[in-house]
Amino acid sequence: MWQGRIGIAALVAGAALVAMPLYLPSSNDAGGNDQVEVYSWWTGPGEEDGLHAMVGDFQKRYPGIRFVNAAVSGGAGSNAKAILATRLLANDPPDSYQRHAGLELADDVRSGKVEDLTGLYREQGWTNVFPKGLLNKLTIDGKIWAVPVNIHRANLLWYDPRTLAKLGISGPPKTWQDFLAQAQVIKAKGLTPLTVGPEWTQKQLLETVLLGQLGADGYERLWTSPSSWNWKETLDALEVYKKVLAVSDIASSAADWQPQVDRVLNGSAVYAVMGDWADSYLSVTKKLAWQRDYAATATPGSDGVYDFLSDSFTLPVGARHPEAARDWLLEAGSTDGENLFNPLKGSVPARLDADPAKYTGYLSGALAQWRDPKTRIVGSLTHGVVADNAWNAEIDTALGLFVQDGTVDKFARTVAAKYQETR
Ligand code: GAL
Repeated sequence: MWQGRIGIAALVAGAALVAMPLYLPSSNDAGGNDQVEVYSWWTGPGEEDGLHAMVGDFQKRYPGIRFVNAAVSGGAGSNAKAILATRLLANDPPDSYQRHAGLELADDVRSGKVEDLTGLYREQGWTNVFPKGLLNKLTIDGKIWAVPVNIHRANLLWYDPRTLAKLGISGPPKTWQDFLAQAQVIKAKGLTPLTVGPEWTQKQLLETVLLGQLGADGYERLWTSPSSWNWKETLDALEVYKKVLAVSDIASSAADWQPQVDRVLNGSAVYAVMGDWADSYLSVTKKLAWQRDYAATATPGSDGVYDFLSDSFTLPVGARHPEAARDWLLEAGSTDGENLFNPLKGSVPARLDADPAKYTGYLSGALAQWRDPKTRIVGSLTHGVVADNAWNAEIDTALGLFVQDGTVDKFARTVAAKYQETR
């Protein structure tokens, strides 16, 4: 069974790219509840520390269950999602897998791939410990389908304050127009204004430019009224995106988000747009000090807006170890599990009762903002909240062409049309 999986994985993503799972389930695995295979893309620096902390707690609580880490490397699930899709199609699911709250999860529900967890929520009293808005993103047809571990923020601009000081720049840009003006100064000094990584990071940059240019209402309209992709203000925002890309290192873009952020650290680039998993990489892996060695602020034009995503875990239909998977979900949804996971993951807890004292540096401000009723919350495109998988995949294809040919109206028309076609 396992051999078959590796064969499919290699075909899908190219074996060289894919990290092999750390512990293989026994090949004659006949079910039972002595192990749990958990699937994520949290491998490597800035990704796995939080997972390991939560797993450590899980193993203390459930010493009889062997944790099988089936993580597949690649930022934003760039390899993991394709392999998971083939496993789900072959009715060969892991015991629990990572999914984003929102429309990414809805696809699995509609195709009958995940179990209804409403009973577990009722039994654990969980409907009172997670924010209502988040529960809405996990609820489809009146039932709840996954357990959230965290809240990440996607609209952040990372930089090294010492680089700004050296360049005589008084602070990070407040609008994308400010950014483009700063970019001229930065380029004149021989540095790269903005560093990007693989395509998903370019997409996350796109969502933050759209958010900054259109405002939160205009950004949300793109997902609820896709014809607004063809409006003049959207086309103008896409022109800004083109200009932003033109002052980036897209021609020699980094292979993943960590090497992207490294270019800010080594001073060759000044800014990077990245989610707050970068905080874990910078503070936990690199042991750098918040505000002294690195800093982050809302991406231009998005102050006061939290472009959120939430990692959650599912119970797949046909999981071979459903009882052990349930125990894993109890860990993921527990106060202790979340408080161990999040400070090392660079995210704030999904639970409302987590202890703020455990969140320091960047995370202390993030938690305060997340909990501030004045903060405007919108959902991330790149990380599965606002568009379903079919439309998102079409947006990926169109974006790949757009960054090559720069034809704004063709891109906008395609994105709007693909929404209709994928209904
Ligand atoms: C996101 C995920 C985060 C982090 C990031 C970079 O999709 O939700 O937890 O892993 O990708 O890989």
